[in-house]
Amino acid sequence: MQVQQNISLLPYNTFGIDAKAEQLLVVTDKAQLAAIANNSTLPKEKHIIGGGSNILLTHDVPGLTLLNQLKGIELIKEDDAHVWVQVASGEVWHEFVLYAIDHDWGGVENLSLIPGTVGAAPMQNIGAYGVEAKEVIETVTAWHWEEQKFLTYTNEECHFGYRDSIFKHELKEKVFITDVVFKLDKEHSFNTNYGAIQQELDSAGVKELSIKAISNAVIAIRSSKLPNPKEIGNAGSFFKNPVIAKEHFEQLLQEHPEIPHYPVDDTNVKVLAGWLIEQCQFKGIKRGHTGVHEKQALVLVNRGGANGQEVWELSEEILQTVHSKFGIMLEREVQIW
Ligand code: EPU
Repeated sequence: MQVQQNISLLPYNTFGIDAKAEQLLVVTDKAQLAAIANNSTLPKEKHIIGGGSNILLTHDVPGLTLLNQLKGIELIKEDDAHVWVQVASGEVWHEFVLYAIDHDWGGVENLSLIPGTVGAAPMQNIGAYGVEAKEVIETVTAWHWEEQKFLTYTNEECHFGYRDSIFKHELKEKVFITDVVFKLDKEHSFNTNYGAIQQELDSAGVKELSIKAISNAVIAIRSSKLPNPKEIGNAGSFFKNPVIAKEHFEQLLQEHPEIPHYPVDDTNVKVLAGWLIEQCQFKGIKRGHTGVHEKQALVLVNRGGANGQEVWELSEEILQTVHSKFGIMLEREVQIW
């Protein structure tokens, strides 16, 4: 095991922040995890980076940073209607999506082009265009640092919520996710209800729906709205879409009749953080080395050479401004390190 000291994490986070890891180790084999746990010369404090696409590094990272490069996709079971596919957590998410589409396995096509690795899918229950990872995750297997063994969590045990799971709470920093088993369909049910998808399929002239066509539509929409991290540093949506009480929403509606929203249940309404931020005139702004993306107000960007602290301060300013204008406290979706 080769531990590197004082290494820049610039290539390993999509925000493009130049913070350092005190120690860095690349994990390519599950067997390394027991060896790491038993090696008393390694720091106890451990952090895991997959695709580095949902983190903001606000300082150098103490302890041991593990770079997850576990690879492998395996069909473990099938019946007439479904396949169960076990995917190693270090696989690139979009490559897995393309693999599934190539094998005509449906269920993840709406999640095309989401940055990051497969291990992050259960962690934050990734979602887009009307589908969430929890709908296709069967089990998650992880190495538990204290128990010193691999444990498998069922879908229910993962406590999935909107961009949320047990891995962000009780199991935070306690486990290293190694594999995810997905249950995918051989007989497809297409999900084209989310706003722009049908429009995109129509304008591409698609007559016969397929998982490939949906994937292409999602790729086209995402590429037109979301900045490519290879060109401009970012971590996708920086904030979650907030859920507010119906009474609060009705008050807002009087002043802002056009406010976009979705009903959640009888007492709650989801409003769109991108819209709230845009109303506060942040969309497209430049602030030092950082700013807000021109086409999507939910995305904070690194305009070159930003440090994590600057991005965090801009996010704090957005939180405060949205709160004083609308009385809504947004929550960060990105993990702050
Ligand atoms: N909107 C604005 N201004 C903006 C952005 C959005 O007014 O600058 C309003 C508009 O009404 C727009 C609506 O928000 O029609 C929805 O926008 P969009 O479809 O882009 O979705 P979103 O709510 O902004 C969420 C996810 C994205 C996901 C898209 C598509 C969250 C925090 N974000 O964004 O996920 O790709 O839906 O499903 O839930 C991510 O998590 O990193 C991410 C990119």
